[in-house]
Amino acid sequence: MENDNMKILIFGKGYMGERCAQAWGEEAVLSDVHVNSVEDALNEINRVKPDAVFNAAGIKGRPNVDWCEDHQIETVRGNTTMPLLLADACAQAGVYMLHMGSGCIFYGDAPHPDNAWREDDFGNPSPVYSRSKWAADLALSSLPNVGIGRIRMPIDWMPAPGNLIDKLAAFSKVIDVENSVTIVDDMVDVFHQLLEKNAEGIFHVTNPGTMKHRDLIGLYEELVDPTHTNEWIANEELVAQGLATKGRSNNFLASENLAKFDIVMRPVQEALRETLEKYAAAKKEGGCCTPSGTCSC
Ligand SMILES: NC(=O)c1ccc[n+]([C@@H]2O[C@H](COP(=O)([O-])OP(=O)(O)OC[C@H]3O[C@@H](n4cnc5c(N)ncnc54)[C@H](OP(=O)(O)O)[C@@H]3O)[C@@H](O)[C@H]2O)c1
Repeated sequence: MENDNMKILIFGKGYMGERCAQAWGEEAVLSDVHVNSVEDALNEINRVKPDAVFNAAGIKGRPNVDWCEDHQIETVRGNTTMPLLLADACAQAGVYMLHMGSGCIFYGDAPHPDNAWREDDFGNPSPVYSRSKWAADLALSSLPNVGIGRIRMPIDWMPAPGNLIDKLAAFSKVIDVENSVTIVDDMVDVFHQLLEKNAEGIFHVTNPGTMKHRDLIGLYEELVDPTHTNEWIANEELVAQGLATKGRSNNFLASENLAKFDIVMRPVQEALRETLEKYAAAKKEGGCCTPSGTCSC
């Protein structure tokens, strides 16, 4: 049943948790609790009494995802064990849970004529981070009263370290690839609708169409910094040149399940230009977000 005004309990006080809390305003309660047991989560759920729980907690690795390769237990604990503890607590409390998944569980082309991965396709990850995310999806995806919203390469008008715009603009060498991506303004709106509708299943929360890194950098140079330059390298060069330990996921995602809940996202190229225009304005005002995501712009 849809509610006019919800109370959403958010776990994970990082970039995405803080970004969603900011967008959802009074409806959001951003928890300080670090969940290490079902009891930790259940106590917080019983204290807040939310209509729905949103899991934005996870371990991405710092300074980047290669950290996870050498910290397997911490990564599995944060990305696989924690979501299952939380799902257990939500089931006991009878509360819907939406979990933030990642489209980076798919590597390369899908075995479909259009090469795009469907929501119920099986992942094929090799890196530890992606494996830990896929393991959670496997266990959570058949549970009742649970939804999984997979995003990819978040692109946000608010400058932030986790924003793909800031990341790509800072690299002197950028891989020349094409992907499905997520515009953050659209993502927070879609997540809110999924929470309202207690939507079960897996959802690819990516904007229709694909984006080349060249599209983003082109708009960056047009709208934000005409003096920006970078070198373009082939995807294989990332590891070959020692710029990363493991290759990154590049893929196309088909989003088929959002339509079942009448949820629509804007075409990526339209949303991308608008986001870069807003990003340029935010940069001019000097606004930015802290590493954890707290934004003052
Ligand atoms: N940002 C992306 O590019 C992206 C893309 C696809 C999917 N996702 C997924 O989206 C989720 C959020 O990502 P993000 O960018 O917001 O990451 P983030 O900025 O690193 O924030 C994650 C937060 O989760 C917290 N956390 C870790 N273990 C926890 C636990 N057991 N209980 C409570 N909190 C815990 C972390 O706290 P500590 O710092 O104290 O560990 C951190 O504050 C993750 O699941 C990630 O896999 C992100």
